[in-house]
Amino acid sequence: MKMNKHDKVWFDGRLIDLGDACVSPLAYGLHYGWGVYEGLRAYDTKKGRAVFRLRDHMVRFLDSARFMQLDVQYSLDELCDAVKEVCRANGSQADYIRPLAYYGENGELGLGAVNVPTHVLIMTIHMGAYIRGGAPGASLITSSWERPSNLATSLTAKVCGNYVSSIIAKREAMRQGADEALMLNHNGSVAEASAENVFMVRHGQLITPGLSEGILEGITRDTVIELARELGYEVVERSITRGEIVIADEVFMTGTAVELHPVRSIDGIPIGKDVPGPITAELRELYGKVVRGEVEDHLDWVDPIDQKPARRRKK
Ligand SMILES: Cc1ncc(COP(=O)(O)O)c(C=O)c1O
Repeated sequence: MKMNKHDKVWFDGRLIDLGDACVSPLAYGLHYGWGVYEGLRAYDTKKGRAVFRLRDHMVRFLDSARFMQLDVQYSLDELCDAVKEVCRANGSQADYIRPLAYYGENGELGLGAVNVPTHVLIMTIHMGAYIRGGAPGASLITSSWERPSNLATSLTAKVCGNYVSSIIAKREAMRQGADEALMLNHNGSVAEASAENVFMVRHGQLITPGLSEGILEGITRDTVIELARELGYEVVERSITRGEIVIADEVFMTGTAVELHPVRSIDGIPIGKDVPGPITAELRELYGKVVRGEVEDHLDWVDPIDQKPARRRKK
């Protein structure tokens, strides 16, 4: 379901109709991808509608803004409250939340612009399943485009402009009839998919690329690592070769949008015996319960939209 012009957006501190939210044609955010964003999901829980790991996402949002030297005028608490306010205004169809901070305009277009106002927008859409088509798992191609390295940009920050590379890879996958693109880094090792982290299972061990491999430090990745360890699995962060991942017993992707999604093939090569494999299925089921507030030990990750934000969980 698409957004309509009467859906509410939070724009620089005010809740207004989407149709009234105006962005200047001179905005640096528009020209150069000079902005940062987040993606969060809301779920129905026993305590009503709730946002998953709200505070962690908004901490990452402010960290991303700090990297791009955007001057976000709102505190973490204010931003968390604003997310909840938009969710309340847009109702239960709003399952995906998109905060965006972008560099505005100063009447010029030079890359050296300073002291330009930063605008903050928070909107929601109805996303449903991110990968559609009903197949039991996603088909991936290995993109011919390299994931930018940590020397090209910060991959820890969700910088809008970074996503040009993801879009090129995703469209390459779509042209080949695949669901997603697996991106390799400058060393030829597996980095991540266009907007998802990647895990493989080999010999009972869960393996995922570490941060130096050129990946976003995904919040779902962190969630799944913690849940897998609680279930007693060994989780290792290390580089993964292309040759290794195609013979893995199981491969899955993680991300707020995709949640935990099995991979059925890479470059036409089937992965594992069953899709989803047993460990993927177990983790996916548990993840589904955790985000819906059905797991007592992880209720602090679930932030009801009618309550004040939960404090960050101590590790
Ligand atoms: C490049 C990239 N990798 C991984 C992820 C998954 O991150 P998260 O689990 O925090 O949504 C995303 C999601 O936005 C992403 O854009």
